[in-house]
Amino acid sequence: MSMKCTIGEVKHHVGESVTIGCWLNKKRSSGKIQFLQLRDGSGYIQGVVVKSEVGEDVWEAASKLTQESSLYITGKVKEDTRSKGGFELDVTGVEIIQVTEEYPITPKEHGVDFLMDNRHLWIRSPRQRAVLVIRAQIIQAVQQFFNDRGFHLVDPPILTPSSCEGTTNLFHTKYFDEDAFLTQSGQLYMEAAAMALGRVYSFGPTFRAEKSKTRRHLIEFWMIEPEMAFVDHAENLEVQEQFVSHIVQTVLKNCTQELETLERDTSKLEKIKGSFPRITYDQAVEFLQKNGHEFEWGEDFGAPHETAIAAEYETPVFITHWPTEIKAFYMKPDPSRPEVVLCADMIAPEGYGEIIGGSQRIDDPELMEQRFKEHDLSKEAYQWYLDLRKYGTVPHSGFGLGLERTVAWICGLDHVRETIPFPRLLYRLYP
Ligand code: 4AD
Ligand code: MG
Repeated sequence: MSMKCTIGEVKHHVGESVTIGCWLNKKRSSGKIQFLQLRDGSGYIQGVVVKSEVGEDVWEAASKLTQESSLYITGKVKEDTRSKGGFELDVTGVEIIQVTEEYPITPKEHGVDFLMDNRHLWIRSPRQRAVLVIRAQIIQAVQQFFNDRGFHLVDPPILTPSSCEGTTNLFHTKYFDEDAFLTQSGQLYMEAAAMALGRVYSFGPTFRAEKSKTRRHLIEFWMIEPEMAFVDHAENLEVQEQFVSHIVQTVLKNCTQELETLERDTSKLEKIKGSFPRITYDQAVEFLQKNGHEFEWGEDFGAPHETAIAAEYETPVFITHWPTEIKAFYMKPDPSRPEVVLCADMIAPEGYGEIIGGSQRIDDPELMEQRFKEHDLSKEAYQWYLDLRKYGTVPHSGFGLGLERTVAWICGLDHVRETIPFPRLLYRLYP
């Protein structure tokens, strides 16, 4: 064996002999030369086996390789501008680990159910790998954005005694003898954390027992939830547009190959920077009514409405000042017009729907008590939350970005099921 390295590292070893642990993706043979398409997760490289230059044993071993066979390959690294990764391997040795038989995901087309049943293998394919690499890059960009701005990472609990976003889609479980629920959002805890640490953000899984089977809904999804003391509604929107621009620009810079694999039209992503337009809910309703949608003030937007509004813009758009009636109990009413709240949904372009929900929170203790009555919330269960308005209450705001919808948009995927390694969907808990 020569020096071990990964495919991602071969650029540092041009002209040297290296050994790479890898799988065979595809193979082409001319009878005298075998071209091995190899992958190891860090990238792809072509290994060239020339019959007249290797021993009989090496040629035979290469001949035995099937799709997804595992091996150690040894060869000399050559620069090659025609190949995708920019390098090629002049193979001198093949050490088979396992010859794979009848790998189920062949290069032909497969149905969605079949691919979902084989998700544990499907993630090996170049497109799925690209999505997961971009997902990881987005998470890194998120952490960098907040760390650079003095936010502290705080982890809210996953098992909770009460709900945050309403009771209709809570996952119920037992906590010994007590009732418990899987968290729908860490927000209420993040509000407590903001009163302790100023600017905080969380990144964790959230659960919604939604019986919706759409291309935007997961049962288990990951949310990034910043919460900021002394920040008002307008300032909250500024953080959001900077945040989303940073994510998109970071992916454009660091994931060129992956975006190419996904055939993403990056010219659309280049435009995601600077400030995003803001329209009020009232303006959105007027726009829909003028454009032939049956829609009444006070209703919530469905996917077709969001898509119609988003089609007017090349960047995400904020829809602000929603009816108090249809939004969560904790949102602060507009002082000049209490029938609407100081909130915004950020709608992604190209039909990807709402990626952020956020608001300024109620800071007035009396109004919060009143909301508890209106929403029939138990004061015992939320006593700690009411304490936040009792001991040094301050104006504060925050938001939640749905990771999977963001991945779907940036990758240009038509369904969120490909944005998370093992999606939990309505009626799908396997694998
Ligand atoms: O709008 P939501 O429900 O807001 C909250 O949970 C707030 N407590 C957040 C906050 O202010 N801290 O959810 C926020 C985002 C949505 O905009 C969407 O991107 C995503 O979470 N989301 C989902 N993603 C996938 N599947 C689902 N079922 C989702 N539900 C919400
Ligand atoms: Mg929402």
